[in-house]
Amino acid sequence: MELELTPAFPTLIGQLWVPDPEVMNRDLQALILAEEAEYSSLGRSNVGGWHSRPDFLNKTDPAVSSFKAWLTWALRRMIHATAGENAFQGTLSASAWATVCRAGAYHAPHSHPDSAWSGVYYVNPGSDNREQPLSGVLEFLDPRAGVEAVTAPGDPYGEPFRVRPQAGLLVVFPSWLHHWVHPYSGQGPRIAISFNATAAPVAELKAPTPELRPNGSAVAVSASDLSAARHSNAISPSARPGEKLPCGFFPYAVDLQPHWH
Ligand SMILES: [Fe+2]
Repeated sequence: MELELTPAFPTLIGQLWVPDPEVMNRDLQALILAEEAEYSSLGRSNVGGWHSRPDFLNKTDPAVSSFKAWLTWALRRMIHATAGENAFQGTLSASAWATVCRAGAYHAPHSHPDSAWSGVYYVNPGSDNREQPLSGVLEFLDPRAGVEAVTAPGDPYGEPFRVRPQAGLLVVFPSWLHHWVHPYSGQGPRIAISFNATAAPVAELKAPTPELRPNGSAVAVSASDLSAARHSNAISPSARPGEKLPCGFFPYAVDLQPHWH
């Protein structure tokens, strides 16, 4: 007789190690540092450091095109893992922004409530600090309510899941999953590109497209709003430095083909 076990409520976190990322990363780093020199940081989850406007995918540079291809690949794989192979047909929309952390900067715990998937790509992880082994480490928090108060053999609940940044590593996770970044204390900048993504099935794209609705600091976007969102000019990519921008901004969209592999 066996005890049948079901892993209920699993949380899938995807990691992709982009092959031979050196040239792409070199070019992405140059782009990001040049943009950092142009305007001051937008305030988001970052404490210290620099946060770009959320229009990074609008750039036409070859390195950004390469990054978009890997991002699309990872998001498609994530959809296949959660919805089934070829189960989804529609449009995938994404926005991305660059971050630069220097010593002392970190990202406070947060989630991305306006999206389906979020993630980060590491252009340059900076350097390790032997005295601060968690410097710059990405940490996901156990989302199950109350687990931190439970003691059980093997301590299976409440432990964080940590990812150490590596150049060329792309991480994708459900947007509702809370996460944060330990204070970075290495030498040189820690450079990353973060992203939000959502998807609209074909049928929903044909639905009426009401206006985006402000909802606190973010923008609430229902499934039927997404075709408006992906073409929205409500938030100008050329927003002025320091201008506070809502989060529901999806300047980049691709159609998912039914037989993509
Ligand atoms: Fe985040």
